[in-house]
Amino acid sequence: MPTFTNQIVFITGAGSGIGRVTALAFAKAGARIAVAEINELNGRETVGQIKQQGGDAIFIPCDVADSEQIDKAVQQTVDVFGRLDIGINNAGIGGKFGRLLDQTKQDFNQIMAINIGGVFYGMQAQIRQMLKQKERAHLAGDHPAGGHPAGGKIVNVSSIAGVRGMPMGAPYSASKHAVIGLTKTAALEYVRQNIRINAVCPVYTHSPMVDELISTAPGMEERMRRMVPMGRFGQPEEIAQAILWLCSDENAFITGQALQIDGGLTAG
Ligand SMILES: NC(=O)c1ccc[n+]([C@@H]2O[C@H](COP(=O)([O-])OP(=O)(O)OC[C@H]3O[C@@H](n4cnc5c(N)ncnc54)[C@H](O)[C@@H]3O)[C@@H](O)[C@H]2O)c1
Repeated sequence: MPTFTNQIVFITGAGSGIGRVTALAFAKAGARIAVAEINELNGRETVGQIKQQGGDAIFIPCDVADSEQIDKAVQQTVDVFGRLDIGINNAGIGGKFGRLLDQTKQDFNQIMAINIGGVFYGMQAQIRQMLKQKERAHLAGDHPAGGHPAGGKIVNVSSIAGVRGMPMGAPYSASKHAVIGLTKTAALEYVRQNIRINAVCPVYTHSPMVDELISTAPGMEERMRRMVPMGRFGQPEEIAQAILWLCSDENAFITGQALQIDGGLTAG
């Protein structure tokens, strides 16, 4: 298991599901966590759970659809912890379950604002800070032991719906395709600054978001399970471990990838 001793991790949507479990996993691996979340109660609960397991975390109220709020949240992280090493842009919504013609302009705009806006503004704020740190390290002639240059890591949470169509979820699928486009482009733009940027694309994973979806129609859970070659949903811990793995220094040559974590779904 990779270690992240004293590294500073900023995670959006860490009040629930995949984000919370990822925050707990990073904390267990030694990182200090900024939980940026729109739901204050849940965000504070995640911070409480991290502290209970002996870790360090802060809660920052943040709506990722608002660039000013993300900018402020990253700044607050730096004010408290002194720097930023890792950004995880995870916050997202599933949106309305319905065909293209059933989706309204409001449905469309909301999902784009959160699922794409959150990743776009999140990366802007995180990369700006990482570049500042790099500049400062350069000016100080600070080359850490082993010659590892300053930089950073970012993981954006896309979806299997970001690499294939998702009937009844066109805006969601479009937003998750966009996350991969943003990831690949930003990865190429900042590769020489040693900022590695990747995405994860989970298949159905147990979380409040998916539990809500499967509650909408009887038999839906079974149908969804059957689509996955492994015959089951993912566990949030399995997504979290992939995110940690992508951020690990042992994977320093991996950038611009969209890692599909899908029980074999896209192999066929
Ligand atoms: N669970 C799955 O099957 C699955 C599969 C593929 C991708 N994903 C993606 O994983 C990510 C996490 O999803 P999850 O399943 O854990 O869902 P979840 O609903 O359990 O968690 C999402 C979190 O994001 C927060 N959030 C929503 N809008 C926000 C906003 N505007 N600003 C800040 N925070 C906001 C919510 O409050 C919640 O805490 C999402 O991007 C989702 O699209 C999930």
